[in-house]
Amino acid sequence: MKPKSLVSINDFSKEEYMKILELAAEFEKNPTQDILKDYVIASLFFEPSTRTRLSFETAVSRLGGKIVGFSDSSSTSTSKGETLRDSIRIVSNYSDLIVMRHPLEGTARLASEVASVPIVNAGDGANQHPTQTLLDMYSIWKTQGTLDNLNIFLVGDLKYGRTVHSLLMAMSEFNTTFYFIAPDELKMPDEYKLFLDRKGLKYVECKDFNQYLKEADIIYMTRVQQERFTDPIEYERVKNVYILQQSMLKGTRENMKVLHPLPRVNEIALDVDDAPQAYYFQQALNGVYTRQAIISYILGIK
Ligand code: CP
Repeated sequence: MKPKSLVSINDFSKEEYMKILELAAEFEKNPTQDILKDYVIASLFFEPSTRTRLSFETAVSRLGGKIVGFSDSSSTSTSKGETLRDSIRIVSNYSDLIVMRHPLEGTARLASEVASVPIVNAGDGANQHPTQTLLDMYSIWKTQGTLDNLNIFLVGDLKYGRTVHSLLMAMSEFNTTFYFIAPDELKMPDEYKLFLDRKGLKYVECKDFNQYLKEADIIYMTRVQQERFTDPIEYERVKNVYILQQSMLKGTRENMKVLHPLPRVNEIALDVDDAPQAYYFQQALNGVYTRQAIISYILGIK
């Protein structure tokens, strides 16, 4: 039987989302344990990362596990022409679980098909970033006290943003109303809107950031990702279209929080960092507890 992997957020059920969030809350109370002391976790990053890689490695280290891997594939046999398929087979023999980030969509699924150990997708191109989604859900759950019936604003790069694609799919289980704020060039792809239509969920598409802000429970900002553009002129045209400033938060709901998967470039002004609504640095810390929960759940330790 294939081991349980987390490639797409849809690989987990609604019940499993809640199980992970409850486990994350337990790890937040008690993040240092030795439950992974007999485990080796491989961390294969074919694309740059700060938070995802380091929070996974922190999560494993705090649970007593060992890490092997790389943060720059140019120092591996990939640079000699080894295929991903072969690399994954080899690393499967060395480790108990593989965390992988790759710039190409579909590579995490391919890896899960050839691996003999679980694959955890740490981001595959513009496709999915399911562990980010689970930490986003944990952050929403912690700050709102519920996941049900919320108004979630997704702002910025909704076309290439893998974090918003995964978040939309997961939060569609909780009767969310989505507000899509994006320039024409970076609109939410039709496939995701059709997905919401089929589930009977409401969404609002708009270009004016301020128009509906007072209705937001969560404002989820995203970076316009230069690395996804083939045309640099198009990137220049859209990169600064939406910039959240502290003055825009006046009159918003008391429970409202600003999230961002980070890194940010210009899309959240520095003055927002001091606002009580800013939650993105805490959100990144939540990544450690959520990833402890994901690894221990997949390995069957919790
Ligand atoms: N949120 C996120 O994926 O950040 P990194 O690219 O730094 O891992």
